[in-house]
Amino acid sequence: MSSRIPGFYRLSVAERRRRLAQAAGIDPDVLAALDSGGLDEAAADGMIENVVGRYALPLGLALNFRVDDDDYLVPMVIEEPSVVAAASNAAKMVRASGGFRAEVSPAVMIGQVQICDVADPDRALRALAAAEPELIARARQVVPGLVARGGGPVGLEARVLARPGSPDGGMVVAHILIDCCDAMGANIVNSVVEAVADFLAQVAGGRVGLRILSNLSVHRMVTVRAQVTEAALADDDLSGAEAADAVVSASRFAELDPYRAATHNKGIMNGVDAVLLATGNDWRGAEAGAHAYAAQSGTYRPLATWRRSATGLRGELSLPLAVGTVGGALHLHAGARLALAILAAGSARDLAKVAAAAGLASNLAALRALAGTGIQRGHMALHARLVARAAGATGELVERVASEIAALGDVKPERAREILSRLRVELDTGPVSLVIE
Ligand code: MEV
Repeated sequence: MSSRIPGFYRLSVAERRRRLAQAAGIDPDVLAALDSGGLDEAAADGMIENVVGRYALPLGLALNFRVDDDDYLVPMVIEEPSVVAAASNAAKMVRASGGFRAEVSPAVMIGQVQICDVADPDRALRALAAAEPELIARARQVVPGLVARGGGPVGLEARVLARPGSPDGGMVVAHILIDCCDAMGANIVNSVVEAVADFLAQVAGGRVGLRILSNLSVHRMVTVRAQVTEAALADDDLSGAEAADAVVSASRFAELDPYRAATHNKGIMNGVDAVLLATGNDWRGAEAGAHAYAAQSGTYRPLATWRRSATGLRGELSLPLAVGTVGGALHLHAGARLALAILAAGSARDLAKVAAAAGLASNLAALRALAGTGIQRGHMALHARLVARAAGATGELVERVASEIAALGDVKPERAREILSRLRVELDTGPVSLVIE
C-alpha cells in the first residue's frame, strides 16, 4: 500500500472515497458509514448524556506518510483549513529522505493514590517499597484479562508531597505503574487504583485521598525523528539552505521563549489531536500530558526541535502519548473504527508513532511556511477553494474558480459566482471574454 495518491486534493469527495477504498483495501460500502458522520443517533445517545443530536467535523486524509518503512494513510478530523494539506506536504519532504523513524516505549500508565495524614512520610516510603510485590499481586487480580494479554501492573513509585506540620499535613503519593497494552487505559488504571488504595494507605499509615490516573504519562513516551534535504525545503522565495537556517532559527526561538513555545507546540498538537480525534481517542488527555511534559523542567519548552544536518535538517519530537486501539469510544463509534481501519495501525504503538509523525510534520510545515511567506498565502488558497465550492463550483471548476479569485485577490462569493458563470459558458461554447472590473 502506498500513501502517495497524486492529485487526490483535486478529486470530488466520491472519487476520493473510491481511491481510498482501493488504496486501503476497504469495501466501499463500509465507507458509507461516513455518511452519518460515523455515528448513528442511538450510538450517540449511548455515548454521553442529554443527547439532542450529533455534530459533524470534516474527516480528511493526510498523504505521503512513511513511518519506520511502512506507508500510512492518516485520517485527520479537524475544523482548521490547511492542517491536512500542510501535514501531507511536510510528510512528502520527509519521505524523500526515507520517512519518519519512531521509538515507542511500553504502554505504561500511572495510577495515582493520594495518601493524606501520614505521620511519618519517610517510614511510609520505606514501607511502600517493601510492599511492592504484594501490591503488584493484588493489583494483578483486578485486571486478569489485561494480565493474560501480557500487560498489567508492573511497578510502584512513591514520593513525599508534604510533611507533618505543613499546612497540608503529611502527604504521600503512590504511583502504580500499569502496562495497558493496546488500550488507552483510563478505565483499567482507575479500576486498579480504586481497588488497592485502602491497602496502600494502610501500609503508608495514612488516609486515602484521590485515586485516579495521571495524564502526565511519562512512562508512555513516543519519539519521532525526521530528516529533510535542502532541496526538499527550497521554493521560489527561499533557497534550501536559507529555508533550513530559518527553520532552525524558528526552533531556537521556541527553545528560548515560552510565548513562542506555546504556539510551536500548538502547531504540533494540530497534527496529533486530529489523528486522535479521528480514531476516537482522548485528545484532551494527550493535550494535558503534552503541555505538562513541555513544562517539566520548570520552563515551558518546545516538544520538537530542529537542527542543521549535513544535507539539510533533522528534527525530533518527544511527548507522552496515551492512545488506544481498543476500548474507550471505539466500541460505539463506527467512524472511529473506520479511521483505525484506514490507518491500518496494528497496535496502539503504531497509532502513537503515526500520530506523533503527524505532529512533527505539522510542526515542520508551520515552521517552513512561517520562515518564508507566512501561513496566510496557504490559508488563502484553501479559503478560495471553499468559496468556489460555496458558489456552486464542482469537479475541475473548483480549482479554476479558486485560482482566479485568489489571483485577483478578491476571494468573495460574488466574484466566484461571476467567474463560474463565465467558465460554464466557456465550457459549452469555447472561451469568451468577460471584463472583470
Ligand atoms: C496554527 O494553527 C499553528 C501555527 O501557529 C503553529 C506555529 O506557529 O508554529 C502556524
